[in-house]
Amino acid sequence: MKEQLEKIYALATQDLSKAASINDIEEIKNKYLSRGGEFNAIKKGLKDLSDEDKRIVGALANEITQKLEASIKAKHDEFYVKELNEKLQNDKIDITLPGKFIPQGKVHPITMTINEISSIFQSLGFSLIPSELSPEVETEYYNFDMLNFPTDHPSKDMQDTFYTSVASNVILRSQTSGAQIRAMEMQKPPIRVISPGRVYRNENINSRKNNFFHQIEGLYVDKEVTFGDLKGILNEFIRKYFGESRPTRFRTSFFPFTEPSAEIDVECIMCEGKGCRTCSNTGWLEILGAGIVDPNVLEGVNIDSEVYSGFAFGMGVERLAMLKYAIDDIRLFFTNDERFLKQF
Ligand code: PHE
Repeated sequence: MKEQLEKIYALATQDLSKAASINDIEEIKNKYLSRGGEFNAIKKGLKDLSDEDKRIVGALANEITQKLEASIKAKHDEFYVKELNEKLQNDKIDITLPGKFIPQGKVHPITMTINEISSIFQSLGFSLIPSELSPEVETEYYNFDMLNFPTDHPSKDMQDTFYTSVASNVILRSQTSGAQIRAMEMQKPPIRVISPGRVYRNENINSRKNNFFHQIEGLYVDKEVTFGDLKGILNEFIRKYFGESRPTRFRTSFFPFTEPSAEIDVECIMCEGKGCRTCSNTGWLEILGAGIVDPNVLEGVNIDSEVYSGFAFGMGVERLAMLKYAIDDIRLFFTNDERFLKQF
């Protein structure tokens, strides 16, 4: 038995000297020292020996397994350090390499302008009409009839409306004013709301006109609202949006839903009032339509026009963005050219 133990130890030492990795060492450990390993098999035979032999052989078996364990551990540590060093060497990161460039997305200039205008009006006490009250696919009823457009009146053609095949009275809205009717149906005065959104008109596309664009309309209804309030609010808005120094003018105009009506111009930013292609040589650019809400519109939504009055206004977002950032072609907003969009 003694010889057997020494023979196995010699074999184990031989195996160990051939080991080339931590894996090999684990295998050797398993083969000789585990429960089912070679030494345990011999130790099981101890019970058949005399007490004297048991003591001697048992002590030897322990001595040998301890020696083997020690040399296995030494080899293991040696390989561990070696493999770790190899791994560190191979996985080395070159921290001097430049990083990968990840392009950053930006808010579209139209969204940016809508947000800016909305927050100016919010600071003046207006709130946003929820988008579910402001659908882009509208009925003639909300887009025209409730806004005092006479049925079969040419003013319906004035805005060159897109009709749909859904039904003859379902259109792509030509203005966001329908949302204001819905707001007045939902809420009693005082009402102070704005409704930003996309509108559609059958236009010939050029540098100043597109067949869809964005509008922000506003409505203020309360007791004793006057044209003076309208001028005050809109001048304050223009001052905040364009800065103190930009001249404005109010011109009389016509809209079916307001009486009296006005259009508001700002001095042309391209030529500073001298006259150029952008302003058709007038020196002025129209930015807003506005007026005192026609009593018929109020009565249509059951607001007593003897008690209440109001003003409404509407503006084109693209036009306002073009003026602020000196952009000379409306189509730039819709062609998704990164060279243009990156500048904002
Ligand atoms: N809805 C008008 C347009 O699209 C603008 C407007 C709104 C004018 C409110 C007056 C009052 O041209």
